[in-house]
Amino acid sequence: MIELEDLKQRAFEFINNAKSLKELDEIKIKLLGKKSEINSLMKSLKDLAPNERPIFGEKINALRNQIENKLNDVKNNLFEAEQNLCFQAEKIDITLPGVTNKIGNLHPLTIVLNDIQNIFISMGYEVIDAHDVETAYYNFDALNIPKSHPARDEQDTFYINDEQVLVTATSPMQIRVMETRKPPIKIVSPGRVYRTDEIDATHTPVFHQMEGLVVDKNITMCDLKGTLDVFAKKLIGENIKTRFRPHYFPFTEPSAEMDVTCFVCGGEGCKTCKNTGFIELLGCGMVHPKVLENVGIDPSEFSGFAFGMGIERIAMQHFGITDIRLFYENDVRFLRQF
Ligand code: DAH
Repeated sequence: MIELEDLKQRAFEFINNAKSLKELDEIKIKLLGKKSEINSLMKSLKDLAPNERPIFGEKINALRNQIENKLNDVKNNLFEAEQNLCFQAEKIDITLPGVTNKIGNLHPLTIVLNDIQNIFISMGYEVIDAHDVETAYYNFDALNIPKSHPARDEQDTFYINDEQVLVTATSPMQIRVMETRKPPIKIVSPGRVYRTDEIDATHTPVFHQMEGLVVDKNITMCDLKGTLDVFAKKLIGENIKTRFRPHYFPFTEPSAEMDVTCFVCGGEGCKTCKNTGFIELLGCGMVHPKVLENVGIDPSEFSGFAFGMGIERIAMQHFGITDIRLFYENDVRFLRQF
């Protein structure tokens, strides 16, 4: 009897000390398995007097049951504790910031093109994409650029064949628009343009321009100046000044170049603006009467103004980029900065 009570005490102590389900399994084998003390006691029953066997047998069975129940209780507790630990470890902290993927950004030329476009859209202009290839008629003749003009030379223009060229400016789109629409016309036309320039820090054979054209009754140089002044201030800043310098383009008369306050020195005079305080932003002028005639618009009834600007040059000034080649090299270290 005392032996059994002692065995129970030891067994319970063992069970209580189990740290894991795995350890509990091992303890179970130790306490109830073939080599266990209980089993030896069972085996030794045969050595007792026959009348004593059932009494002791029952006591040993009762002890076995108690141990099994205790094992089950502790097993349930350990299972619950281990499951809680698991849940704890698997808990997701939804307040942690997620892992973000870098999805890229707009190219600096696209940013500037969009800015320019949006200013004109806000002034009621329609956007019409320019062509990459045109006949020599649209690229030159219709724009009043005569056969003898040096720009038509093969050294300046990419000829696809005798008839077709890669456009040297977005201006041919003026002709396409005026041929298919009646005034009032108010459009801007972005596009790629091609010239056989040697590549250096400020020249590439392919670059981008934005053309503008307004044709209606009573359009004057006043409209041109007012429009482009507002445009420049919206693009660069309300504090800048604009200045119109006489120039020559075959498709406009009179023609001008518009300068804006130098972005480097703010008008004080520096190396960038060659001490003038101004830098050139675009070319412009009143649509030449011959150009209007070429598209069947009567110059005595209608007049218009046009302008054209280089996107790369504006983007370089805007972002302080000193080498045009960076736009096309697709170096992510450059592109990532915008
Ligand atoms: N086509 C000119 C160029 O490529 C830019 C230009 C100047 C366009 C005056 C115009 C304009 O429409 O009126 O340099």
